[in-house]
Amino acid sequence: MPRKTIFDLYQMKKAGEKIAWLTSYDFPTAQFAQEAGMEMILVGDSLGMCVYGYNGTVPVTMDQCIAHCDAVRRGAPDCFVVGDMPFGSYQSSDEQAVDNAVRFLKGADVDAVKLEGGVRIASRIRAITDAGINVIGHIGLTPQSSGQLGGHKAQGRTAETAKLVVDDALAVQAAGAKMILVEAVPPEVQKYIWETLEIPVMSIGAGPHCDGQLLIVSDLIGQFQAFTPKFVKKYCNIAEVITKAMKEYVAEVKDCSFPDENKYCYKMIEGEQEKFLKSVKNPRK
Ligand code: KIV
Repeated sequence: MPRKTIFDLYQMKKAGEKIAWLTSYDFPTAQFAQEAGMEMILVGDSLGMCVYGYNGTVPVTMDQCIAHCDAVRRGAPDCFVVGDMPFGSYQSSDEQAVDNAVRFLKGADVDAVKLEGGVRIASRIRAITDAGINVIGHIGLTPQSSGQLGGHKAQGRTAETAKLVVDDALAVQAAGAKMILVEAVPPEVQKYIWETLEIPVMSIGAGPHCDGQLLIVSDLIGQFQAFTPKFVKKYCNIAEVITKAMKEYVAEVKDCSFPDENKYCYKMIEGEQEKFLKSVKNPRK
């Protein structure tokens, strides 16, 4: 299958076909995502929490993001891979934003970069777009500024704040973003944005009125343990599966039932065992 392009995603919007988007942080999970039919993969800075065990996304660095994007790109060569610009990689200036977006393309061959914020980062979106790089805007709940938002809280729940989310959506589109992700806003607000914007509108925790959905893989497979947002559907409980397997392993190591010598061991080449035993001293003597 040829690699998905932004034109394929626009085609899907036009045809009313929903876009499936998932985060991934490593090579094998990216392979599973592509095999499952995912059109898009986000290498999110959520890797800070899901992979590195930080309390939030703020500590994540460009080097970490690029290394994980690179692994994901190899695992999912046909998917549209999005690199998430971490906190501190675009806040200072338009020049800094362009330089770091370029690093994503050169270092990990991503198809787009994602930035958090609307009105206040419109000039960054414009600068990166003018450099020839696809930008995906991210508005609503923006985890990098959760300190200012008072935590990981749903946004746009009052008429006044809903209007602010809409203003952000319009600013992102006007700045040249190719797509927008709306996180954790009520479906009524998302519906208005979807019906108003021309570019594809994606949702994470913003309901069904949009061109496609994003979930965090660690939530979807039941791997992330710290908390579960209201909008998450766990499709399996991999933590249970893995812990059960590990407990069995521990028990079998302790009672010596693993490894079974006839099943999990290499055999010496015919005739070599005798020669070997003759050639070495008996360690017990
Ligand atoms: O980093 C991430 O995975 C994200 C999602 C929360 C949208 O930005």
